[in-house]
Amino acid sequence: MNVLLIGSGGREHALALALSKSKTLNKLFCAPGNTGTKNLAENIQLNIYSNDLIDFCRINDISLVIIGPEQPLVDGISDRLKANGIKVFGPNQNAAEIEGNKAFAKKLMRNYSIPTAQFQVFTKRSHQIALNYLKSISYPTVIKASGLAAGKGVVICNDYKSAEKTLKEYFEDEIFGDSGKTVVIEEFLEGEEASIFAITDGERFIILPASQDHKRALDGDKGKNTGGMGAYAPANIIDSKLLEEIKTKIIKPTLRALSEENRKYIGCLYAGIILTKNGPKVIEFNCRFGDPETQVVLPLIDGDILKLFYSAASEKLDINSVKYNGGTSVCVVAVSEGYPDNYKKGFEIKGINRFSDSKNIIVYHASTKEENDKIVTNGGRVLGITSVINSDNLKLAKKEAYKALSKIKFNGITFRKDIADKGIK
Ligand code: AMP
Ligand code: GLY
Repeated sequence: MNVLLIGSGGREHALALALSKSKTLNKLFCAPGNTGTKNLAENIQLNIYSNDLIDFCRINDISLVIIGPEQPLVDGISDRLKANGIKVFGPNQNAAEIEGNKAFAKKLMRNYSIPTAQFQVFTKRSHQIALNYLKSISYPTVIKASGLAAGKGVVICNDYKSAEKTLKEYFEDEIFGDSGKTVVIEEFLEGEEASIFAITDGERFIILPASQDHKRALDGDKGKNTGGMGAYAPANIIDSKLLEEIKTKIIKPTLRALSEENRKYIGCLYAGIILTKNGPKVIEFNCRFGDPETQVVLPLIDGDILKLFYSAASEKLDINSVKYNGGTSVCVVAVSEGYPDNYKKGFEIKGINRFSDSKNIIVYHASTKEENDKIVTNGGRVLGITSVINSDNLKLAKKEAYKALSKIKFNGITFRKDIADKGIK
């Protein structure tokens, strides 16, 4: 098969690496891809919002398109490809609303009794009613922009004052444009978090090993929310009993609900789960793989991932195409100094090449660029330095990842030192 992968982050590097191992793969294209995918695929420049996308797929005999990021899914790129007879791994626009429209996702969960935080929805027009509501509740509370906000639309407010300020930013200053004109105000939940990836053809599904992201910038989950500072898998906080509960109370009913609402979901459904003392609850759904969780989950999977994705896209999920046979992975994200606020880029990265042939270290590229035969930093999250070991020794996997990281240098390199500690303690 010839395959087109859309996206350019660390997640897409991980997808490209896993796809490149498939026996069913003939040629992989990546649009636009990155410095890391360049060695695994042909990186191409393609305006996916124009007819060039369809022309490209026809000319290159593309059997499957895999869409990495949420924006093209929410924009309906899947629908357009399918309307032209091209198979896609990634949900249609109306199913992708599960991420792109949090008010919709919350109402779906309420209507189908899927466990999640209690909530209310308000719009810019009901600003005053929202303020009255905020005066009546206990704190902390969580305010979320309903639309896509590049992972920055969630604010945990400790008192009325900060909630009032957040609403002003969303409704009056319109810091997230239309995405923030509708908000979800929800109950603050306490507990450990885990990321669950369900690969589905809309009906059947398989769950990949659970993982844990580290969203805050600083050690001990302090500092600002980021795109993700590291991850590990499997997340041993999810035991087989909990996993069963997540399948039966969350994943299965959500897929059924989407089907019943004529929004059949094909692709990777990402459930962000919080393990409360009253059981697992959904914090958010995403319509795609997580970043950086994909970087630790995919290397642990044996079998043919392309067969899995193709069978899901064909609505005949092959549940035997992949299997988790043990092993542990830890990814530490090396970021530019100052991230997630302002940072400089263009610094030379040294020490990456020594891992090109390594069996248990993968250096994923997130934001890098080639310049005069050198690789330089080109964004906030630069690299994902990832260990993959055969045993279930998370402590060792952590040690290996940090050992590799110590050999990689660039000006201002910054990282958390406690990735995976939650699983070790
Ligand atoms: P999200 O962008 O939806 O992933 O939210 C970012 C982070 O905010 C999550 O990973 C949680 O740590 C936190 N969060 C979101 N919703 C809640 C909630 N209802 N209660 C507690 N923390 C939350
Ligand atoms: N790791 C969080 C996300 O991908 O949304």
